[in-house]
Amino acid sequence: MTGFAHILDVEDARRAARRRLPRGLFEFIDRGTEDEVSLAGNRAKLDAVKLAPSVLVDVTQRSAAAEIFGMTQPSPLIVAPTAVAGLVWHDGEIALAQAAAKAGIPFCVSTQSNTPIERIAQESGARLWFQLYVWKNRARTLTLIDRAAKAGAEALVLTVDTAVGPVREYNVRNGFGIPLKPSLRAGIDVALHPRWTCDVMLRALLTSGVPTYAHYPDEFRTPLGRAALSTEVDLAPDVTWDDVRLLRQRWKGKFILKGILTVADARTALEHGVDGIVVSNHGARNLDAAPGPTDVLPAIVAAVGDKMEVLADSGVRRGADVARFVALGAKGVMIGRATLYGVAIGGADGAGRVLDILHQQLSATMGMLGAQRLSDIRLA
Ligand SMILES: Cc1cc2nc3c(=O)[nH]c(=O)nc-3n(C[C@H](O)[C@H](O)[C@H](O)COP(=O)(O)O)c2cc1C
Repeated sequence: MTGFAHILDVEDARRAARRRLPRGLFEFIDRGTEDEVSLAGNRAKLDAVKLAPSVLVDVTQRSAAAEIFGMTQPSPLIVAPTAVAGLVWHDGEIALAQAAAKAGIPFCVSTQSNTPIERIAQESGARLWFQLYVWKNRARTLTLIDRAAKAGAEALVLTVDTAVGPVREYNVRNGFGIPLKPSLRAGIDVALHPRWTCDVMLRALLTSGVPTYAHYPDEFRTPLGRAALSTEVDLAPDVTWDDVRLLRQRWKGKFILKGILTVADARTALEHGVDGIVVSNHGARNLDAAPGPTDVLPAIVAAVGDKMEVLADSGVRRGADVARFVALGAKGVMIGRATLYGVAIGGADGAGRVLDILHQQLSATMGMLGAQRLSDIRLA
């Protein structure tokens, strides 16, 4: 990891990723939605969570180990599902999974990954979860989750906060969208970032061709530069609790809903036999008027926390943020952009460096708090 010794925190990785990636791609990863009120809000709300230090505690043997769904892991982190990580680094999803495997934590594969789950499993040896966006064609959706189960995914993560496409004007201004459209602005952007162009785009063109959504059925799988061939694999805007019931029947492993922000929905999830939820506003990328997960997490944990696994994400940039979510009751914490910045600057090593930093920062925070275990972390 010495190649990344100069990266001292997530913000260093972010700045380096901003230099490396074309602006359209960097902003797609980095920014929020609409007026980006919730993006700033997630940060401000996390910063406002204060932790209670217990002094004169021997913290020599402290451990950040977490038990999530009965499995012990060295930290409460999970690498979040992020679409098109393969545009950020060649085989970016494999690199993220390799970093997760090294850190001993699960990697959640996105439906919109550029690399198929089978290859990620084979080439990383990571513990995998599979994130699902429901397609209009439900039969094809069920075939997709069967495929994820066969590839060894331990958990199915149904994302429930993306009923419609988000409004992100900056993508339009940058000419960034799927399908990728050639434009003068995009062309200049790419030309100004030759390392990315050679290491990612040219390499993809020379090996597997223009990246695709790897989980789409072969007959509909088009290069990201071309319009979809069918609406069958469009994301369904009519996903309801009936789909949760259907998926629960079909999926034998752990079943998680990602994007729950109310106590009522958490209770309904429980009634549908769901094993866990992620309290998340999708990293402030979807609904700009959404509450911060920190606002609602304590009430959700009080309502269902003893009956299902409650995880959280959105806005984590330091180990102290992980400690904050844990203090608010989260059993595990997903990391989205931070590891994407890492993978953008150095593949598995870069993402691994970010995971190491978060772990070290969490350990330092625990030391300061007099917390020997995660369960010792308390709100002030
Ligand atoms: C570039 C990018 C792509 C994402 N794609 C997905 C996705 O395909 N499915 C999903 O459930 N969440 C997706 N997310 C949301 C993440 O899983 C996670 O909820 C969010 O990034 C957490 O916030 P953070 O980035 O501040 O850590 C994406 C996030 C980013 C930044």
